[in-house]
Amino acid sequence: MTKRTNTHPTKKASKGHSNMCSHQLSLFSTGDSKEIHRRPVNVSSVPQRSPFRYPGGKTWFVPTFRNWIRSLGMKPQLLVEPFAGGGIISLTALFENHVDSAVMAELDDGVAAVWETVVNGNAKWMANRIMEFDLSIETLVRELSESANEQREIAFQTILKNRTSHGGILAKGSGLLKNGENGKGVGSRWYPKTLARRFIELDFIADRLEFLHEDGMEIIRRYSNRDDVIFFIDPPYTAGGKKAGKRLYRHWDINHEKLFSLCDDIKGQFLITYDDSEEVKAMVREHGFQMRLIPMSNTHNVTKEELVISRNMAWMDDYQEVHKPCVKYNQ
Ligand SMILES: C[S@@+](CC[C@H](N)C(=O)[O-])C[C@H]1O[C@@H](n2cnc3c(N)ncnc32)[C@H](O)[C@@H]1O
Repeated sequence: MTKRTNTHPTKKASKGHSNMCSHQLSLFSTGDSKEIHRRPVNVSSVPQRSPFRYPGGKTWFVPTFRNWIRSLGMKPQLLVEPFAGGGIISLTALFENHVDSAVMAELDDGVAAVWETVVNGNAKWMANRIMEFDLSIETLVRELSESANEQREIAFQTILKNRTSHGGILAKGSGLLKNGENGKGVGSRWYPKTLARRFIELDFIADRLEFLHEDGMEIIRRYSNRDDVIFFIDPPYTAGGKKAGKRLYRHWDINHEKLFSLCDDIKGQFLITYDDSEEVKAMVREHGFQMRLIPMSNTHNVTKEELVISRNMAWMDDYQEVHKPCVKYNQ
């Protein structure tokens, strides 16, 4: 099922993005100074480039991602994001020129159709399709029951479902926002003008973006020999266990131990984000990687911590350290 998409009209041969609101202690800035967040980032201060409202989306991680890139002391040629979802990190890296180009991979057919539509030069078509759609519960149900064959129509249905489902969840069983969030009904997260503008803007970076409808693990392996490549790795994982992951994504069952082994072989730099769990911490220690805890707010405004993992985490020394595991002594 290997599918490679690289047919944007202006594309040169390629070398190779939740609603969270809370407070933050230090201020967001796009300048050169280091942004340290000991409390969750207020995501409204980060430019939202993705048309998705993605479960597990990393908009809140953008300021930390910028710090990481700066800490590398050079402009990497290529960013690889093997579990792309809403793709906010790749999109930010391209718009802010932190990298020359980006490769995003994703297995979900609907999400893939959206990114393929963008790289194939149909972002403006999507913008028009969004502006022309007159949303009501009736038109929504009718539209989502149509069986679409054309890639860009599948893309439109995906964005429509994503923006009208609880938590943006596309996996089977997710419910429509019939009562809406904030009491605004099914359209409470459907902002046609904003979404159309995002697609139009995506057209500006489409020729620097490559999308692969493939297994992200294979993509890591493919690029692992290149020292000019950096990886942002955000695998499907929910500390509550496999069932929880299953509710969020259509593809969720990956071999985490194998993922860590693949990271062992990466010649360039990588950054991994995971839910804070003992299972993950044990793998980090086993592979000799380093980790830090970073605070974030989830969709229910509950503050929790996530793990940030890499080979060298000195650039995050101001963040909370991960405590050593309890040592049990034989008596
Ligand atoms: C935690 S989400 C990524 C969220 C993303 N960082 C964002 O900001 O929107 C993980 C994504 O990995 C995708 N996925 C799961 N297994 C995959 C695989 N083997 N290869 C590629 N993508 C996969 C899921 O469909 C989901 O979109």
